[in-house]
Amino acid sequence: SRGLGDVYKRQALALLTLTVVQGCGNESSYPESMSREKNSPTAIITAAIAVSDTYGAEASHNILNAGGNAVDAAVAAGFTLAVTFIDAGNIGGGGFMTIKMGNEIAFLDYRETAPLTAHKDMYLNEQGDVIDNITLIGGQAAGVPGTVAGFWKAHKRYGKLPWKDVMQPAIDLAANGFIPAPILVNSIHNMKNRFDGKTNFNEYFNHIASGEVFKQPELAKTLGRIAEFGADDFYRGKTAALIVEEMKRSNGLISAEDLDQYSAVWREPVRANWRDYEIISAPPPSSGGFAIVQLLKMKDYLAEHFANIDHNSAQYIHLIAEMEKRVFADRAEYLGDPDFFDIDINALINDNYVSQRAAEVNPKTISSLKSINPGLESPNTTHYSIVDQWGNAVSNTYTINWDYGSGVVVGGAGFLLNNEMDDFSAKPGVPNIFGVVGNVANEIQPGKRMLSSMSPTIVLKDGEVEMVVGTPGGSTIFTTVFQVIINILDFNMTPLEAIGATRFHHQLVPADLITYSGFSIDRPLSDRVINDLAKKGYRTQPHSFEYGDVQIIVKDGTSWIAASDPRDRGQSRVFEPTSKTRDQ
Ligand code: DON
Repeated sequence: SRGLGDVYKRQALALLTLTVVQGCGNESSYPESMSREKNSPTAIITAAIAVSDTYGAEASHNILNAGGNAVDAAVAAGFTLAVTFIDAGNIGGGGFMTIKMGNEIAFLDYRETAPLTAHKDMYLNEQGDVIDNITLIGGQAAGVPGTVAGFWKAHKRYGKLPWKDVMQPAIDLAANGFIPAPILVNSIHNMKNRFDGKTNFNEYFNHIASGEVFKQPELAKTLGRIAEFGADDFYRGKTAALIVEEMKRSNGLISAEDLDQYSAVWREPVRANWRDYEIISAPPPSSGGFAIVQLLKMKDYLAEHFANIDHNSAQYIHLIAEMEKRVFADRAEYLGDPDFFDIDINALINDNYVSQRAAEVNPKTISSLKSINPGLESPNTTHYSIVDQWGNAVSNTYTINWDYGSGVVVGGAGFLLNNEMDDFSAKPGVPNIFGVVGNVANEIQPGKRMLSSMSPTIVLKDGEVEMVVGTPGGSTIFTTVFQVIINILDFNMTPLEAIGATRFHHQLVPADLITYSGFSIDRPLSDRVINDLAKKGYRTQPHSFEYGDVQIIVKDGTSWIAASDPRDRGQSRVFEPTSKTRDQ
């Protein structure tokens, strides 16, 4: 293992050509010559953001300039993306926030819950089969939203600027409008048929047009109420009433009682030492943290097999697919909402267990499905990463699940409701939209949180932030975060190279299928690799969507490098906040 410092020597050279103080774009770093405290290894004066669109980047940048900290900036970005990143940004969904604030590490779970009238077999027809699309489109697909409760709780504990100030950028963009990115306009128009005649989606969004200002007056009012009355408006006030009315029109289950009872929860994150680092990531009800730690540790137990193997070669992909099979087997059996199902996370990530799992990997051929038992055991979401000038960090992933969630807009309130109910296992062994299966641990129960793969991650070294990383992508989320960390540390890639590289994915079922993401950015797996994989018995195909939109920040000496995935519309910036406030 080695420090990241060396890895960036190449980039430091590139920086010499930079003349602007503020870097901005797909990858950005702070010119070394601008660093005032070059000789002090720990003094960081720059902040960095990697946010999934320009408006979210601008809002968090302005909040940091105004003296806000990483949590203020994260809340501002989250509300802004609820306006401008309509496909996944939200107030009608939920998510996870991993935080390092001073010496405190915290993890906030604001995942949606099943409504109180939900039950195990609610999506099955008389024959016991899952009814088509019921978990995905329309009111019944929606879980009780957690985003507003989450942002409120995070801000209450850590925010520095007034709540109204961090919400203002979002309110302005909803009221005065914004120019939508072409990728957003296209994706909304592509949804026309999916929701036509089934939900009110097209009424609200189909008139969006490239180059034209898009305003959302109802959403502006909703955000204005939340700014004034706090989370109470959403869970007990006017917005709550509008949600309940919408449920009547859309045949949904969320009641006034559901909203009143919802709460975001502080949990212990998954924490594990790995090489010289400490990995901090999402605990249940996410499977992300456990999976990333298993993958990183397993890879090191298999070091002799990985030695001298090329990045993304057939053998590399095979070894990682073998590791992933074991992770997905455990995920399906053991992971769910910890408030409903006992989960021994330490048993799943401890060194002995992971080394045993590593020993089961077959370096030569595909392990048969039967041999893998649990050991004990454009679709969208969006992620952003923020560090402030005091070294505090927020890694936040939130979602309405599939693109545009359930397609149901809360009438009069102007925001989309999630279709997160699809993340439950509607029936044991029946795959959800991400092709993953589950069992009792993730069956539907009233008030329960559905299992997630979201993995907002912070990597520490000697107690300080070394990386902040995360991505959307459903079940590909943690395999992506794992590959990005390894691309940087073991393959010497820059952050932008690491996140832009083709990635691949395997998830146990089907046993012989490898999918990859990279076809639209001209970096497919080579024909030779695909042929070599075929010789090993694998089918290889592009993933059904171009997965992942990684937003990463990596420590670079006394500053940061921030990078946004070239697959989407993200923007990263490294800058010295203009606020003169020196205290956090
Ligand atoms: O929580 C989860 O794991 C999923 N609902 C995330 C959905 C997602 O990432 C969609 N993006 N491709």
